[in-house]
Amino acid sequence: MTSLTGKIAIVTGAGNGIGRATALGLAAAGAKVGVSDVIVEDGLRTVQEIENAGGEAIFVEADIANEEQVKNLVSTTFATFGGLHILVNNAGIGGGGGRTHEVELADFKRVVDVNLIGTFLMSKYCLRHFLAQKSGCIINIASTYGLIGAPKAPAYCSTKGAIINYTRQMAVDYGHDGIRINAICPGYIDTGLSRRQAANPNDPVILAAVARREKAAAMQPLGRQAQPVEVANVAVFLSSDGASFMTGSIVTVDGGCVTTFNYGEASN
Ligand SMILES: NC(=O)c1ccc[n+]([C@@H]2O[C@H](COP(=O)([O-])OP(=O)(O)OC[C@H]3O[C@@H](n4cnc5c(N)ncnc54)[C@H](O)[C@@H]3O)[C@@H](O)[C@H]2O)c1
Repeated sequence: MTSLTGKIAIVTGAGNGIGRATALGLAAAGAKVGVSDVIVEDGLRTVQEIENAGGEAIFVEADIANEEQVKNLVSTTFATFGGLHILVNNAGIGGGGGRTHEVELADFKRVVDVNLIGTFLMSKYCLRHFLAQKSGCIINIASTYGLIGAPKAPAYCSTKGAIINYTRQMAVDYGHDGIRINAICPGYIDTGLSRRQAANPNDPVILAAVARREKAAAMQPLGRQAQPVEVANVAVFLSSDGASFMTGSIVTVDGGCVTTFNYGEASN
């Protein structure tokens, strides 16, 4: 099993879904984890789960679009554990849905602020520590929607596409400093992303979207949605010495989704 003993990590959006699974995976591999989220009770639950499994973690509340909160998250984690080696830029949101002519500026900007500016701010303040020690790694959770166009998701697709090339750009800037920066593009993962963003989780529109998503996932090569741990496993590997020659890599974890044109029917 991958060992991250002695490593200290921060995972944003670690109260739920892929972030929670990644925080649990890093801790199980021996890392101490700064768990962060905007939802305090969910972040605290992740910390409790890590502690129950014998690991070490702290919770720091932070909206990654807020520079002061980001600075506090990074400095608190560093001060508590005495170092910092791994950043998983996981927190991200949808929203600003519709075709471009229908989208409100404020909704589009909020997605940019969280997905892209949040990735910039977290990277900026962690990289200062990584540069001082000439080592460290960042894993950006992008999306297959950053590789292809998807209907009625202009803010989401454009910010995820930006994160992918930002990953390559940072890999160029920091490789000579011993810092590795990679991205994961998840496909259909069974998390509460869309449900949680609805004011009413039983909203028929949301339930219909979830059903559409299940149907779409069924038509991909592996024919299903993944569990968050299946993405977390890859994030843990990219954090480890096993991935020592990987930087600027864009790793799809999508059940084969972007390898094929979706004909609207399964092959069997
Ligand atoms: N679920 C999927 O199918 C899927 C597919 C591709 C990419 N992704 C990406 O994976 C990442 C995690 O998605 P998920 O499905 O686990 O979502 P999720 O909603 O289950 O969890 C996201 C967590 O991020 C937190 N968060 C939201 N805004 C935040 C902010 N401004 N600052 C800090 N934390 C914030 C939420 O409170 C939540 O706990 C996102 O970047 C998402 O775009 C998800």
